[in-house]
Amino acid sequence: MLVAIDGPAGAGKSTVARAVAAALGFTYLDTGAMYRAAALARSTSDAADLARLEIAFDGDRVLLDGEDVSLAIRTPETSQAASRLATDPAVREALVAKQRALIAAGDWVAEGRDIGTVVAPDAEVKVWLTAAAEERARRREIPVADLLERDERDATRDASPMVAAADAVEVDTTGLEIDAVVEAIVGLVAR
Ligand code: DC
Repeated sequence: MLVAIDGPAGAGKSTVARAVAAALGFTYLDTGAMYRAAALARSTSDAADLARLEIAFDGDRVLLDGEDVSLAIRTPETSQAASRLATDPAVREALVAKQRALIAAGDWVAEGRDIGTVVAPDAEVKVWLTAAAEERARRREIPVADLLERDERDATRDASPMVAAADAVEVDTTGLEIDAVVEAIVGLVAR
């Protein structure tokens, strides 16, 4: 079983997806962390072969070729670099293949921009999580302009642009408590 949670930065995807996974006993997959880790690898070596990069999760830790990069991938620079790298079709192909291999077995809550449209169009439950831009920027503690720049790039790239799947349920988290959002999504899964 797969629950796909897509949407723009700061919509609450990570917090919500993690909590939904815990509530259901499913495994959580943060695909944004994979683009971030790949961006970090590319920032140190232009020639980094992304298909051969080892990106692994150990609980809440993200490992890049065995090294803990959990903090390094969360900087504002890496956020923008990941969004830029994610426009490259070859990068997407390599990471989507890794994501599909991971979710092939077991029960998952996967979070990103293209889970319900590209990675797993047959996901049983699809959620498009969103919130007002001002609130999303406040949650990320970044200027609204930086957030909008990333939204624009993610949504207008040629290779699998960020878009809600036609069959996704839209959940607007503006002003909502996390618990209410998690409950709503767990309710969708139960149905
Ligand atoms: O969710 P996030 O902020 O950690 O994602 C970082 C960047 O990676 C985001 O700007 C766009 C890209 N991304 C993507 O293109 N596809 C995904 N499934 C997840 C993230």
